[in-house]
Amino acid sequence: MLSKKVQDTLNKQILLEAESSNLYLAMASWSENKGLSGTSEFLYRHSDEERTHMLKLVRYVNERGGQAKIPALKQPPVDFTSLTALFEGLLKHEIFVSEEINNVVDTCLKEKDFTTHNFMQWYVAEQIEEEATARKVMDKLHLIGNDKGGLYLFDRDLENLAGQSVATGAKGQ
Ligand SMILES: [Fe+2]
Ligand SMILES: [Fe+2]
Repeated sequence: MLSKKVQDTLNKQILLEAESSNLYLAMASWSENKGLSGTSEFLYRHSDEERTHMLKLVRYVNERGGQAKIPALKQPPVDFTSLTALFEGLLKHEIFVSEEINNVVDTCLKEKDFTTHNFMQWYVAEQIEEEATARKVMDKLHLIGNDKGGLYLFDRDLENLAGQSVATGAKGQ
């Protein structure tokens, strides 16, 4: 049985994963409309992954005799000022999510809920990977600067990265 504190913190995390999925879906849609097909593919898949993170939490909370709360979501942005701004936003968001996951882990320890603590280790490892991917994308963007030809290669690279993230994601499910 989950303590109230652990259940509340897990429900907060469910909201955050759902918001991540929605934000990346908005980013995917914007990229698609800009003709960046590889980038949008990468972001659509990233959005799907965040939904699986949410689902995993929903099922866990219910399995442990708690009650998962399916949240209402705020409207994500429709427009992004640039591709760089978009991915800066994504990296910032992932860093924020990592901090929040650390808070969940901290609550588990304080509540002596070692089962949930163990369950959350998957998220800790996943965040290391997601932050690294976001940084890798930012490095690529800094490299190309304003070069249009570079942008074409960047978009193709992201299409490949989308395939890879699905492969590693499947490993962790
Ligand atoms: Fe996530
Ligand atoms: Fe994420």
